[in-house]
Amino acid sequence: MLKVAITGSKGLIGSRIKELLRQEIDFTELELPDFDITNRKHAIKLIKDIDFDLFFHLAAYTNIDQAEKEKEKAYLINVQGTKNVFDAVVEKKRKFIFVSTDFVFDGQHHPFYEESVPKPLSYYAKTKYEAEKLIKKQAMIVRFSYPYRAKHPSKPDFVKRICQDLEQKRQIYLITDSLMTPTFIDDIAFAMKYLFENFSTDIFHIVGTDSLSPYDAGKFIANAFNLDQTLLLKTSYLAYSKDKAIRPQYSEIKSRKNNFYKMRTFTEGISEIKKQTMDVRS
Ligand SMILES: NC(=O)c1ccc[n+]([C@@H]2O[C@H](COP(=O)([O-])OP(=O)(O)OC[C@H]3O[C@@H](n4cnc5c(N)ncnc54)[C@H](OP(=O)(O)O)[C@@H]3O)[C@@H](O)[C@H]2O)c1
Repeated sequence: MLKVAITGSKGLIGSRIKELLRQEIDFTELELPDFDITNRKHAIKLIKDIDFDLFFHLAAYTNIDQAEKEKEKAYLINVQGTKNVFDAVVEKKRKFIFVSTDFVFDGQHHPFYEESVPKPLSYYAKTKYEAEKLIKKQAMIVRFSYPYRAKHPSKPDFVKRICQDLEQKRQIYLITDSLMTPTFIDDIAFAMKYLFENFSTDIFHIVGTDSLSPYDAGKFIANAFNLDQTLLLKTSYLAYSKDKAIRPQYSEIKSRKNNFYKMRTFTEGISEIKKQTMDVRS
């Protein structure tokens, strides 16, 4: 069985990947507080002492708006922390996969493919791109975009946040003049299984099949879960972005390299989530 050391395995994406692949992959979880990627000496020693074929690095500082205020912390975790674990893995001559984001692009001349040139806008995005540049010659980079799943106990994804607001009868402003590429996390897990087994030092976009505006996504979610669509209010990219970290406006992300796993459309992903939620209830 392939042995994968994983960071961020309790997070939104990592926990589902682990849940879905644990029968086929032997995961070693490297988690806070025992494993802190910012503690270079300690992280290097721990990595030296464990046995694995491949290192899957998801751990990150992921609060995009807060990163503008906590630049040092975001840099320490996303750039220095990544370098710490990467150096140890290279020293051990093992494979390294770094998880990055669609936010490395500026959202202007869309769509964005693996070979498109990044131009990060927010500080979070800058740290992720900085880390990409540090590791890219000896690592695989996988970029994800707007991930969602049936449920996660602590961190709500965008689908969950919209559902929660509508269930509590709160109005939500959603952008009409921008694009997002929602990605079903279960698909990310199965695509990653292929990439674990077929490693190359390359960039892959592991993203959903279609892109839509947040407003259209909200309408679709409200309709699918029988929630009140009248609570959805339209806003513009410019109005929404005021007082927030800048996000790419047209985050239409495509892949020319994923010819190994068919990613679901948003409609298919939401329908699977409904099914999984009902299976849990019944
Ligand atoms: N969610 C998105 O919308 C999205 C989109 C594209 C790409 N990504 C990328 O996908 C990856 C996973 O994202 P996610 O949303 O699953 O993240 P998440 O839920 O915020 O989880 C981040 C994980 O990193 C761990 N971590 C933070 N600082 C650490 C440190 N110093 N040492 C060790 N572990 C540390 C956290 O541990 P604690 O919980 O114990 O602090 C947590 O398990 C990230 O690299 C992110 O940049 C995410």
